[in-house]
Amino acid sequence: MLLKKLNDGNEIPMIGMGTWQQTEKDNCINAIKYALKVGYRHIDTADIYGNHTLVKDAIKGFSREKLFITTKLWRDFLDPKLVESQCDKALMELDLDYLDLYLVHWPDRTKPLAEISYEMSKLKEKGKVKSIGVCNYTINHLQELINQGIKIAINQVEYHPFLNQESLLTFCNRHSISLIAYSPIARGQVFQDPDILQLSKKYSKTPGQVTLKWMIQKDIVVIPKATSEKHIKDNFEIFDFEISLDDMKKIDEIHKIRPQRLINPEFSDFVY
Ligand SMILES: NC(=O)c1ccc[n+]([C@@H]2O[C@H](COP(=O)([O-])OP(=O)(O)OC[C@H]3O[C@@H](n4cnc5c(N)ncnc54)[C@H](OP(=O)(O)O)[C@@H]3O)[C@@H](O)[C@H]2O)c1
Repeated sequence: MLLKKLNDGNEIPMIGMGTWQQTEKDNCINAIKYALKVGYRHIDTADIYGNHTLVKDAIKGFSREKLFITTKLWRDFLDPKLVESQCDKALMELDLDYLDLYLVHWPDRTKPLAEISYEMSKLKEKGKVKSIGVCNYTINHLQELINQGIKIAINQVEYHPFLNQESLLTFCNRHSISLIAYSPIARGQVFQDPDILQLSKKYSKTPGQVTLKWMIQKDIVVIPKATSEKHIKDNFEIFDFEISLDDMKKIDEIHKIRPQRLINPEFSDFVY
């Protein structure tokens, strides 16, 4: 399993398994169990996904130190006084002693975001969390944290060929913040993209595999969600080929022709 070193010294597997909308018991448990069999070690969940106990059942009996489990603090609980109790609740639901990664799920500038991340960093000292981070933060949100002396390891954002966030990636690289790409295969839409389809033929790889490898080669962690065994396995078989620099550049350009942001709830703050 390819690992990435984080700025806090911990390591994260470059590919993880997304679990958003996995609330049907058997589907969720079987998908995660199969993913573990295939070789995935990194599972991405969130309080709001409502599937902590299913993740717990799926990982039961698996060696804890080999797993990387992420969950997220939902926006209703963006209060420094609630951070530890929310973490404890997640730990209890997941039946874990510690989280590998605890993320703020969405920014809300009416809330004390720096203090909330600071409270999360205290959970590291208590051994309840290994690494901390945020999701859906723009450069300005990140800059505010940095200005207030808060160090985070991760920003998890939507990233795929239709939303190639190069300036955010450059900023994060400059500040040693690792990016995790969510919705990395654009919720299936890369399978219809003419340029990706062409590269898929050229490399004899599926459009999903080409897209995921494009991000891995940029040192971005990817967390595709899949339910079917074929999809779960396909998404993992991306370490036996290399995309050329010219083709990397071709994929880099797709967002200029066919831009699309897929996850944009009314409370998002992407214009900041
Ligand atoms: N932090 C945040 O705010 C945030 C927001 C969104 C998502 N996320 C995380 O990121 C994860 C991934 O994002 P996502 O679920 O939005 O989208 P995604 O991973 O880009 O796409 C998932 C969709 O693609 C299909 N698929 C997966 N592999 C495939 C393959 N090899 N061939 C064809 N179709 C395939 C899946 O179908 P099947 O299920 O039928 O296999 C599913 O419909 C989430 O599950 C969640 O853990 C985080």
